[in-house]
Amino acid sequence: MNLVRNFLSVYDFTKDEIYDIFLRSVVLKAERGRKNVCLEDMKIGLIFEKSSTRTRVSFEVGIVELGGHPIFMSSRDLQLGRGEPVKDTARVLSRYLDGAIIRTFEQERIETFAQYFEKPVINGLTDLYHPAQILTDIFTVYEIKSKSGKSGNKSKGAVSAADIIRNLKIVYFGDANNMANSWVSLQAVLGFELILAMPEGFNIDKTVKENSEKSGGRFLISNDKISASKNADVITTDVFISMGQDEEKEKIDKLGPFIIDDNVVKNAKDDVIFLHCLPVHRNEEVAEDVFERFSPVVFEEAGNRLHVQKAIMEKVFGKIKI
Ligand code: CP
Ligand code: NVA
Repeated sequence: MNLVRNFLSVYDFTKDEIYDIFLRSVVLKAERGRKNVCLEDMKIGLIFEKSSTRTRVSFEVGIVELGGHPIFMSSRDLQLGRGEPVKDTARVLSRYLDGAIIRTFEQERIETFAQYFEKPVINGLTDLYHPAQILTDIFTVYEIKSKSGKSGNKSKGAVSAADIIRNLKIVYFGDANNMANSWVSLQAVLGFELILAMPEGFNIDKTVKENSEKSGGRFLISNDKISASKNADVITTDVFISMGQDEEKEKIDKLGPFIIDDNVVKNAKDDVIFLHCLPVHRNEEVAEDVFERFSPVVFEEAGNRLHVQKAIMEKVFGKIKI
């Protein structure tokens, strides 16, 4: 049996481990450039079956900064892309590599890989979840709120992160996709108010709901974006058409009214935080002027991928357990 530690969804970490990751991310961000050998001489493969800018580069740079060696493999160049089974690819690569980061389609595909790989695996996005992104997103909120002095008891460190996060109202607008699912999983583990504002007929995947229920998660789906956004601390969205869904263009018309525009922003709290995992489609899921106004935070969020993922890799791949 494969007993190694994986990060395939948020449920692979406890609440305390997530807060440890945030504290470590703060240190890694502040001390960027300081020698760190947590992944010294480790060979980490990145096997990507979909395009990527942020995930690929932030993980590759993060591995280098932790003393390891990234090896990027697009499935187009691997026999995997010509039909070699995932379980065979995993059993071969397990003999060369010390860990892997996978971006793929069905969650079952990464689970099969992890089952046969015998080394730790991190999810770099599947159709179901994007866990490294969602930890970065909530870390970014924690960072902003703790700097703005609304952190509760700062001296308690991790406790103050918990205090900030459990009092948040977070509203996600748009498609019931891997980002929506990731918010649902994060809510189940950390606990905060979560509303998913989406059109009638859109719903969260059955497995995602079941996973949330098993962990005591609670979220609401609203078809009214204005009432949903009332007093929101965080508003967030994602592309209407995700990678691999290019045939589903009719979704854009249905989702169109759920654009984040000034009506949404005005209804939220005055200090509302807007997040977007990027890439953004301006004037589709968010109005261009709203996006540009909030863009400093969105690009800070993108930059934070590096620091949070280094903390995740220390925990999952690291020789020295932090
Ligand atoms: N947000 C995100 O995962 O971006 P990439 O698709 O560029 O990796
Ligand atoms: N939902 C998007 C996220 C991209 C980072 C996709 O899967 O394409």
